[in-house]
Amino acid sequence: MLNDIERTLFHEQTILSRLDALGAQITREYDGRELTVIAVLNGSILFVADLMRRIQLPLRLDCISVSSYHGGTESSGTVTLDQTSMPDVAGRHVLILDDILDTGRTLHAIRRRLHEETSALSVRICVLLRKAKMRAEELDADYVGFDIGDEFVVGYGLDYREQYRNLPFIGVLKPSALAADAVCP
Ligand code: IMP
Ligand code: MG
Repeated sequence: MLNDIERTLFHEQTILSRLDALGAQITREYDGRELTVIAVLNGSILFVADLMRRIQLPLRLDCISVSSYHGGTESSGTVTLDQTSMPDVAGRHVLILDDILDTGRTLHAIRRRLHEETSALSVRICVLLRKAKMRAEELDADYVGFDIGDEFVVGYGLDYREQYRNLPFIGVLKPSALAADAVCP
């Protein structure tokens, strides 16, 4: 697995130090309120586990499951929300946590459904990574771990074809590891 990595973008300690700061900021900005975190699975699983331990507030956790890549390195354009209904967040301050803001379609779809189906007091978005690119949907994150270029990354929860999520750091794959796309679509 490590042989497939071309370069490391963020070491584990760099990620955790950034989460210290992000957790402190969220704690400060929601002071005196109770927070409901909605984790967008699967990619955010490590991020959520590490960040929520750094938020010193009364906190509730809900998870939703989404897929938009369907195995490749480009967004398919179709967001599949596995939920038939959104978590009940009426009267709550919601913070959606996702691994990465790419085209924006996933978070846009989740936010729209939350607005349509629930009466949350507030909805904000927090992502570990934000790609520099034109988004398909008008949307930005309120909290961002790191800004990155428009390249495909893996590790710390992020996958390529469901692999590499368990790498403790974030890196870029070698072209040879991606080449499988050509032979096995
Ligand atoms: P969006 O809907 O295009 O913003 O994409 C969001 C989802 O696509 C993320 O939650 C990830 O699961 C996946 N994704 C986007 N970019 C990457 C990447 O560079 N590596 C791995 N997964 C990615
Ligand atoms: Mg994801």
